[in-house]
Amino acid sequence: MKFLIDNYQLNTQCVDCIIVGIFEQNQLSISAKYLDQCTNGYILSLIKLGDISGKIGQTLLLYNTPNISAKRILLVGCGEKSNLNRKNFKKILIKSIKILKKNSIKNILYCFSELYIKNINIYWMVRIFIKNITESLYNIKKVNSLIERNENFELICLHILDKCDFIKAELGLNHALSIDKGVRAAKDISNLPPNICNPLYLSKKSQRLSQKYTDNIEVELINDKDMQKLGMNAYLAVSRGSKNKPIMSIIKYSNNQIKNNKVIALIGKGVTFDSGGISIKPSYRMHEMKYDMCGAASVYGSMIMAADLKLPLTIIGILAGCENMPGGNAFRPGDVLTTMSGKTVEILNTDAEGRLVLCDVLTYVTKFSPDIVIDIATLTGACVVALGSYASGLFSNDKELSSQLIHASVQTSDKIWQLPLFREYKKELFSNIADLSNIGKSEAGASTAAFFLSQFIGKYQWAHLDIAGTAWRSSIKTGATGRPVELLCQFLLNQSKLFNEF
Ligand code: BES
Ligand code: MN
Ligand code: ZN
Repeated sequence: MKFLIDNYQLNTQCVDCIIVGIFEQNQLSISAKYLDQCTNGYILSLIKLGDISGKIGQTLLLYNTPNISAKRILLVGCGEKSNLNRKNFKKILIKSIKILKKNSIKNILYCFSELYIKNINIYWMVRIFIKNITESLYNIKKVNSLIERNENFELICLHILDKCDFIKAELGLNHALSIDKGVRAAKDISNLPPNICNPLYLSKKSQRLSQKYTDNIEVELINDKDMQKLGMNAYLAVSRGSKNKPIMSIIKYSNNQIKNNKVIALIGKGVTFDSGGISIKPSYRMHEMKYDMCGAASVYGSMIMAADLKLPLTIIGILAGCENMPGGNAFRPGDVLTTMSGKTVEILNTDAEGRLVLCDVLTYVTKFSPDIVIDIATLTGACVVALGSYASGLFSNDKELSSQLIHASVQTSDKIWQLPLFREYKKELFSNIADLSNIGKSEAGASTAAFFLSQFIGKYQWAHLDIAGTAWRSSIKTGATGRPVELLCQFLLNQSKLFNEF
């Protein structure tokens, strides 16, 4: 499927369908008005029949429109003129895609860039347009099925009225397509079953990136023996019950034309299956714990986007791959572990494993002298209780970094919400035989988990994103959401300071 942007001669385009917006009270968008003139008022005459009123999401498909080369015209209701918002724009796009999919349509010309959305310029208009279209075309079955599903559409053109907007629109298109690559890659590996997507699989996918992006990506794998030498005993303990050995994939991305010489590290929790270990989880929805590697998947996707756009940055992406299983050699409640940092941890619940994996990686990462470290993890059920599936939890020791992340979140509508790291949480993690215990007493579970991590950070700006509620959907439209790839990509785009004018 290809996307093109141009200023098209609407009446002579031989596409399968032209899509134009109409508004309430018989008002037409600029392109709809143009087509109406070409057809000597045919479109308005149909609207006046009353079959479409311009309400959000209403549609009417027209065939054999006089003087128009396109095979069809799809009229889509866009609500009140100049009162369109992002949410309704998404609705309109999804509705139009539904209609197009039903018919044998391959080539499409959208006249949507002219729809006015408050505070959205042409760059963002294109970004949002591509994001919603590619998202609604994602097919989860494709990941696990041998059946080849042919692509829905061959060509999607976006009509731009003003040629002056061209450069910004093209940039929006490039960014959106690279972000989509990252989002799709993240969704694809997240949606794989845990018998396929295990730590070894994650490491192979990482290695493949260094073959694909030879100039910019280098990959180093840290296996269990390396971890032993490094003293990563907390990470190792989590994987001891599993036949699948832990592997940490280090994806190093750099670009010669570096403008921003900060080193940014992204660490993803990559527990490819979290059974809970000896503190085993109840069986209800346990299969969803294959998604406990969505943090790693989001790092993987973000690295793809960075390499695809050749961002002028240095990024260390770490996929902390491991599996949490019960077994004869599994770690137990009561064990005391010495972490790579030297701090000791008393295990009170083997299901609080994410923080054990991450604490060693937060220590390990100092080796790269990072300026910024962001870890992304499906860390706590408590975060889902606090924020639902709407927002990821944000925790940070640094005002600048947290506001940069919040800014990227607002830009992309990939919601995050900051939760506290009060000193008081330290008490919750008290252990009388070790420096820390691995769980809090019961309250503020998302914050105590984040506080646990904060005890292991080095000299860098740090943020933790708890994506337990946002990384996948369980009921309707089940599957990985690809969140927070778009947010991370936007953060990286902002860091690369190339595109500030947009
Ligand atoms: N991976 C889970 C967190 C999780 C649970 C994410 C449900 C999404 C949905 C994590 O490893 C875990 O089990 N956390 C425990 C911590 C508890 C034992 C302190 C939890 O949240 O119940
Ligand atoms: Mn767990
Ligand atoms: Zn987990």
